Amino acid sequence: MNIRIRNEVPADAPAIEALTAAAFLAAEYSSHTEQFIVNALRRAGQLSVSLVAEDDGQTIVGHVTISPVRISDGSPGWYGLGPVSVGPGQQALGIGTRLVNEALAALRGMGASGCVVLGEPAYYGRFGFAATPALVYPGVPPQYFQALPMAGAMPSGTVAYHAAFEATA
Ligand SMILES: CC(C)(COP(=O)(O)OP(=O)(O)OC[C@H]1O[C@@H](n2cnc3c(N)ncnc32)[C@H](O)[C@@H]1OP(=O)(O)O)[C@@H](O)C(=O)NCCC(=O)NCCS
Repeated sequence: MNIRIRNEVPADAPAIEALTAAAFLAAEYSSHTEQFIVNALRRAGQLSVSLVAEDDGQTIVGHVTISPVRISDGSPGWYGLGPVSVGPGQQALGIGTRLVNEALAALRGMGASGCVVLGEPAYYGRFGFAATPALVYPGVPPQYFQALPMAGAMPSGTVAYHAAFEATA
């Protein structure tokens, strides 16, 4: 399978929605609202990075997004990675790794200060994410909330995602 990673275009929205719902259907830690979150971020103009992975037949088999987060100490330039989705039939083939690496490269190219992620340490550690006591995301075990500083000092405080993360429809 030949995979091409590219920026999303408006016509991709329905395919991204379907892919996201399918990817998270059987996921253990999922609100099953991830497809609504992506749509709400797009409507709010908060998709700082949105990449799709396309196979030979131009079917979208993966998607990653990055959006701005707020840190309570006012540190600028921080973002949150996710949702990340790979189609159930295409997982564990390296597509998620390529998507995340390209999304982080795009973020670095934008001059970001850093990125956070909420997810499996065993997966996100490979990209350089690590839990840090300085950055807190309330309500989750601290080892699942990880940060990747890119420039400047490590901020300190509570992290809030965009209101789009509360979307349920
Ligand atoms: C998580 C996800 C994006 C990874 O993409 P992928 O293309 O399947 O992953 P890759 O092929 O790039 O990487 C596979 C590696 O990650 C590991 N991996 C995949 N998902 C993992 C998870 N949830 N926890 C720990 N490790 C995981 C695999 O064991 C494999 O490890 P190895 O390289 O040491 O063999 C994809 O499986 C997915 O969409 N899952 C459902 C939705 C989800 O949970 N999204 C992430 C939360 S935002």
